[in-house]
Amino acid sequence: MLRIFVAATIILSFSKAITIVGEPDYTKILYGGVLPLDESEDSADESKHIIQFAVSFARRRYNLCEISEKEFKRVSTIRKLTLYFTYNEEVPYIVNNSGTLQAFNFGKLHTFSFQWSCGGNASIHNFTIATYPMGTHHVYSHTYVRVMKIDSFNVSLDSKYADSETKQQIEEPWCRETWIPSDMLLSLHSKSCRVNCTSSISVMTYNIWNTNTFTKDDKQYPARFKLLEKVLLDELPDIITFQEVRYEHFKGGNLGPSQMKHLSDILKSYQFVYAPAQLDINSVYKGKTEEGVAVFSRFPVIKYNSFLLFRNRSNSADVNQRVCLHVQILHPEHGLVHILTTHLSLSHEAREESVVQIWRYIKGLRGPVLLTGDFNAEPQEKAMRFLRGEVPLKGERTCGVSDLWTNVYPLSPGFTFDCVSGDLVKRIDFIFWRNFPGNLQIKDIRIIQSKGKGSKAASDHLPVVAMFC
Ligand SMILES: *[C@@H]1O[C@H](CO)[C@@H](O)[C@H](O)[C@H]1NC(C)=O
Ligand SMILES: *[C@@H]1O[C@H](CO)[C@@H](O)[C@H](O)[C@H]1NC(C)=O
Ligand SMILES: *[C@@H]1O[C@H](CO)[C@@H](O)[C@H](O)[C@H]1NC(C)=O
Ligand SMILES: *[C@@H]1O[C@H](CO)[C@@H](O)[C@H](O)[C@H]1NC(C)=O
Ligand SMILES: *[C@@H]1O[C@H](CO)[C@@H](O)[C@H](O)[C@H]1NC(C)=O
Ligand SMILES: *[C@@H]1O[C@H](CO)[C@@H](O)[C@H](O)[C@H]1NC(C)=O
Repeated sequence: MLRIFVAATIILSFSKAITIVGEPDYTKILYGGVLPLDESEDSADESKHIIQFAVSFARRRYNLCEISEKEFKRVSTIRKLTLYFTYNEEVPYIVNNSGTLQAFNFGKLHTFSFQWSCGGNASIHNFTIATYPMGTHHVYSHTYVRVMKIDSFNVSLDSKYADSETKQQIEEPWCRETWIPSDMLLSLHSKSCRVNCTSSISVMTYNIWNTNTFTKDDKQYPARFKLLEKVLLDELPDIITFQEVRYEHFKGGNLGPSQMKHLSDILKSYQFVYAPAQLDINSVYKGKTEEGVAVFSRFPVIKYNSFLLFRNRSNSADVNQRVCLHVQILHPEHGLVHILTTHLSLSHEAREESVVQIWRYIKGLRGPVLLTGDFNAEPQEKAMRFLRGEVPLKGERTCGVSDLWTNVYPLSPGFTFDCVSGDLVKRIDFIFWRNFPGNLQIKDIRIIQSKGKGSKAASDHLPVVAMFC
């Protein structure tokens, strides 16, 4: 807390940020508004504190055996990034701190993994924890896999799980060996050990309207969150993709500033991954706002990635950076399933660029692909027709992609927006899939008609849930 106020007092004497001359290195842009300039070292105390926080988080949510120092394996740091705010994505926002010019810092993102063994078995936990302001921790991502007899294999575990491209080499041994991970699929999409379709997967997409409230009073948010909670707990889908998930400093009422915490507190048996798309500075006193998308999964997440989508900063409809999050899950029967989620721009031009970018990304993936989200586009728009393979765009044409709602209910409008006004007049939330013969089968798709309208609505959007087998 202290640090932000010290910095804030100083910023006020500046009319605008001081710019630094030089070409930006765009590869260093983590997401919109964030320039990770360095990978700074933490003090030993800070690192220890964060790891302890992660371990206690994992223990509350996951049935780990009792702590024993001996059983707790090495922690590996994957990435540590300090987040610097930038208005133009080229230069950091600079403050004059008692004569020293320094970039304005919005905390750090710590990404690391640890192994926990229990007898012969073990679990591998990966975390991303945001620290901001000093001394507060927010879990942005937590994924884990359980493995048996960890000591009996010498090769890197993660590379075994992680890379779908190497599946040819790994699927045969996985079918035969006895050290197959206990909660994963024997089949790992191997035809030879594939079993009949007896278990289903349900997937929900839901734009949760960030921390908005119906009145100017922020204290209303926890009441609205109760409505969201009811929608989620009544359904409990296996996989949930969320849009408009925020960290909003000084918002959230007594639930606190991080919506990932609000959601992970009620979805306790889920693994989760958050991909912020943008960082904004509310004011020097009101701190930062991050907004992005998230995936929650009841099945193990073995890998994830996110990429920034096209943005034209000269277009006023395209002020917000957008992102696409890709999470790979392992379903016990169907094997690897790719889940992608996004929330597209309000600009027509950016939406067309984005869907082409997404298609170029997914066309090389093997296995079933589900692409969900709030596309800010209605079904007849060119970008959506492109995704369905009806029209080419920028030299590309999709194949094998369908819009599940249209497939199942070609005559129903399937409106999902806008519940707050009470007039459901648009279908802008979609579940697309790209499937191959012999993989998943669609069983059902539904729009969850929450009862409330206007100030009784859980969100301005309705969630869509598809069931596969
Ligand atoms: C920074 O602040 C100091 C006073 O604390 C002042 O003397 C100096 O001129 C300022 N530098 C800039 C670049 O504004
Ligand atoms: C290891 O996992 C297997 C399968 O889940 C279980 O049967 C066994 O009891 C576990 N061993 C220990 C020591 O927890
Ligand atoms: C694992 O490594 C140990 C020693 O490093 C070796 O003796 C053992 O044969 C290795 N196991 C396998 C399956 O490669
Ligand atoms: C799947 O079901 C079919 C028909 O019920 C049966 O003939 C076949 O053996 C089953 N396959 C497996 C792998 O269980
Ligand atoms: C977990 O961390 C390891 C590095 O320790 C990495 O190789 C792996 O891809 C990570 N898994 C996920 C799901 O992020
Ligand atoms: C960006 O938007 C501006 C203003 O709408 C437009 O003139 C320009 O052509 C756009 N640039 C690109 C690369 O599409």
